[in-house]
Amino acid sequence: MQFDAPITIALSKGRIYKQALPLLAAAGIVPREDPETSRKLILDTTQPTVRLVVIRASDVPTYVQWGAADVGVAGKDVLMEHGGEGLYEPLDLEIGRCRMMVAGPRDAAVGERRPRVATKYVASTRRHFAAQGRQVDIIKLYGSMELAPLVGLADLIVDLVESGNTLKANGLVTLEHIADVSSRLVVNKASWKMKHGTVTALIETLRQAVAAARQGTE
Ligand code: PRP
Repeated sequence: MQFDAPITIALSKGRIYKQALPLLAAAGIVPREDPETSRKLILDTTQPTVRLVVIRASDVPTYVQWGAADVGVAGKDVLMEHGGEGLYEPLDLEIGRCRMMVAGPRDAAVGERRPRVATKYVASTRRHFAAQGRQVDIIKLYGSMELAPLVGLADLIVDLVESGNTLKANGLVTLEHIADVSSRLVVNKASWKMKHGTVTALIETLRQAVAAARQGTE
C-alpha cells in the first residue's frame, strides 16, 4: 500500500510485537531491525515514510494520545487502565488474546475483613468491585501478582490469564471474569483527521490481514 503521509507506529516488545509483525507485513511494513536484539527505540521500516517506536506496553496509549505516535498497538487491558482519552480504537487485531480475571486460592477466605486485592490493573479492579458494591483494598503491584496470595500480601489478585499455567503452578484458581482482552489498533484523534487517507488505508489493509489470519485458524 501507498503511505502518502509519514506515520509513526507505537508498539511494545515481546508477545504482541511478534504477533503484530505478520499483520504489519501485510501492509508492506517490515522493520529494518529486530527490537529484541537492537537497543534502538526508533526503527526504520521498509516503507521510507513509516517508522516504529518500541516502548513499554502501558506507555503506548500515552504516546498515541499526545501525538508522539500516530497509531499504536495496545492491549485492551492497557486501554481500560488508560481510559482511552484522545484515542480512537477502530480495529480489534485479534492478537494477544487472554482474559482479565479475579483469581485466588480455591478457599479464598471471605467475610471477616475487607479483602485485599493485588493487581497492576488498579482502575479496572476498582470498577469491577465497585460495580458489585463490594469494598476491597487494592494493592498496586507491577508484576508477579500470583505471588501476593502465597505470601499473605493479598487475598485475591486481578491479572491476565492466557493458558492458566501460571495460576496452576502457584496453586491459584480463577474466580471471576472481568474482561476478554486482545490487542487493538489505536489512532491519535488529530492524526485521524490530518492523515486521514493514510490512516484509513492502513486500517483497511490491517482489517483484511486480521480477517485472513482468522480464516487461517478456523
Ligand atoms: C502474564 C500475566 C500472568 C501470565 C498468564 O504475565 O500477568 O502472569 O502472563 O499467562 P498464563 O495464563 O498463560 O500462564 P507476563 O508473562 O506477561 O509478565 P508480567 O507478570 O510482567 O505481566
